[in-house]
Amino acid sequence: MRKVEIHPDAVERVKRFTINDPQLGFGKYVAPIMIQAIFDHDEWQRFDLLPYGPLQLDPCTKVLHYGQEIFEGMKVFRHPDDRIFMFRPEMNARRFNQSARRMAMPEIPEELFLQACEIISAYSKHLVPKRLGESLYLRPFMIASEVGMGIKPAKQFLFIIVASPSGAYFAGDSVKVYIEREDIRCAPGGVGFAKTGGNYAASLNSYAKTIKLGCDQTMWLDSVEHKYVEEMSGMNFFAVIDGKIVTPALTDTILDGVTRRSVIEMARSEQLPLEERRLSVDELLQTIDDGRCSEAFVCGTAAVIAPIASFMDKDLSVHALRETNGKVCMQLREKLIGIQAGRSEAPAGWLYPIRDIHF
Ligand SMILES: Cc1ncc(COP(=O)(O)O)c(C=O)c1O
Repeated sequence: MRKVEIHPDAVERVKRFTINDPQLGFGKYVAPIMIQAIFDHDEWQRFDLLPYGPLQLDPCTKVLHYGQEIFEGMKVFRHPDDRIFMFRPEMNARRFNQSARRMAMPEIPEELFLQACEIISAYSKHLVPKRLGESLYLRPFMIASEVGMGIKPAKQFLFIIVASPSGAYFAGDSVKVYIEREDIRCAPGGVGFAKTGGNYAASLNSYAKTIKLGCDQTMWLDSVEHKYVEEMSGMNFFAVIDGKIVTPALTDTILDGVTRRSVIEMARSEQLPLEERRLSVDELLQTIDDGRCSEAFVCGTAAVIAPIASFMDKDLSVHALRETNGKVCMQLREKLIGIQAGRSEAPAGWLYPIRDIHF
């Protein structure tokens, strides 16, 4: 396996770094180290653990103009015995490479991606917070670092991982959703299933509208008929209708969430009925209004699983769920948080142990 070069100044910096703030938030703090790798001459050249710091980019760097960029988001948890574990990182490695293929970027061998994640986590072990729901959030990303104005796939890339000690997202608050009926996030044949910056940039205008209307999350509909529920800007969606858990079936316009898959697998193992199918927004709102939809929730790495309180439509009508802390949502949420924190048994392969590094 390729070696990651450890720079002594990075080690010195991280050793001395502490955070004394009970409100960690999300992305407020970053570990003072980063993994960096360069792709050139058709291969990954080297991986380094460096001090965290600004990147110096030529103004003509392709990513700044053409958005050739992908990223991932994953978490490391501290268990009661003080060992630390990544949650299902192989799935992030695979998705990263799926995104890379779609965006004409080089793949990273899965074992190299995992090794790089493991090294930054091991050196940041003392920064993995302790309280339930807290974690060290890892953000691997890749950018086209080649310089030039021509619109063609770059040949040089930069891969980086940064790590951010994070608090419990939403901390159990229920979410108000705004249904976006005009703008679209992505289209069939496009890049919706890839974790690439443009999808998020496309969501920001609606995000501003969502917040202005007093809501928290934007719900995206399909771009062809503007009729079927897809997902939120950074989370997947579930509802419980007639006692059955329903989630939109995956298409190339929906991100294949690791948490979504985990929810489906947990529900199946608990023999909860579940359907992956098309769900129209009309069916959703009608079943909320007539009480057949008892609860709804969102899920993603950042939010884990969070209940939905209400949906606001384009005409500003509000459709409130009868149960905001629904039974199914809370059962799955507790189970997942327990597994991640090492307080309940994890299905095989869900926790990836980080070996201690003595430095
Ligand atoms: C668009 C989108 N959908 C869903 C998710 C949830 O995916 P995951 O559970 O892998 O974090 C995310 C977050 O990564 C996302 O950005």
